Amino acid sequence: MEKINCIGILTSGGDSPGMNAAIRAVTRAAIYHGYTVKGIMRGYKGLITGEIVPFQTQNVSNIIQQGGTILKTARSAEFMTPEGRQLAYDNMRKEGIDALVVIGGDGSLTGARIFAQEFNIPIVGLPGTIDNDLYGTDTTIGYDTALNTIMEAVDKIRDTATSHERLFFIEVMGRNAGFLALNGAIATGAEAAIIPEIATEVDQLAELIQNGFRKSKNSSIVLVAESELTGGALGLAERVKKEYPQYDVRVTILGHIQRGGSPSASDRILATRMGEAAIIALMEDQRNVMIGIDNDELVYVPFSKAIRNDKPINRDLLNTVKVLSI
Ligand code: F6P
Repeated sequence: MEKINCIGILTSGGDSPGMNAAIRAVTRAAIYHGYTVKGIMRGYKGLITGEIVPFQTQNVSNIIQQGGTILKTARSAEFMTPEGRQLAYDNMRKEGIDALVVIGGDGSLTGARIFAQEFNIPIVGLPGTIDNDLYGTDTTIGYDTALNTIMEAVDKIRDTATSHERLFFIEVMGRNAGFLALNGAIATGAEAAIIPEIATEVDQLAELIQNGFRKSKNSSIVLVAESELTGGALGLAERVKKEYPQYDVRVTILGHIQRGGSPSASDRILATRMGEAAIIALMEDQRNVMIGIDNDELVYVPFSKAIRNDKPINRDLLNTVKVLSI
């Protein structure tokens, strides 16, 4: 193995609260252990265009509490091409970067995996996404904060739902995963969660109505995971208007508010532990792994496993929502 002297760090894909805490931890742990650090701007895009800056401990001062990412982020189409990756590799070499820490979600770690294989580069990933959809880690950096943002928003909508005796479909993010919708429903005492994981097995809307979800209540909140599989909040509202016109239905799409804001204590702690672990992983000659957390233990998850797209969701929680919504 080639000796690592300089570590490059980048954030890629959708930003998530806690990315800055991770950047801080990676940078400081690397410097503590004698490495030099370079910050790569705008994800893989910056690697291709050579937007790379030397990082000292001061570059990451006063950022642990900030949402977003000081390195900026992007989704790079060029990096998906062999030519783009060659340019990225050439710039890495020119800058003397021997290894990378990539903070991002599924797409970013997929890119990392290909890049690492093509050029034999040591890369360690950190799971930075609000979606919580990476396999092999109980939770991802940003998920807890997003869940809290959802909770605060839904609590407010509940006031209107109750006052007007309405049925509200509230759409939350998650790409093709229902973690935010399901746990958001638990945290807000919502009457139901409609999630992609079971969308092909049951007609969740019909089941909800048949269960008599408004038996003892005049208002209802249903959290809907964004996804073609669920039909989204707008799709479900259209169906209700046609099939169950007795309900006064409204839709709220929470959107990018879920990605912003100061990270929660949990996300700061997670990001900090994982950031330090990324440097330890490189010191231990780990290659092409994502840092995960499993029962409070930091673990190494091979990229191939992390991006499998089949992280199991706790289906028992759907029943919990149902039982408690009487
Ligand atoms: O992966 C994070 C995420 O916020 C998803 O939940 C969502 O589907 C997607 O990114 C939105 O991406 P963009 O900000 O590019 O519209």
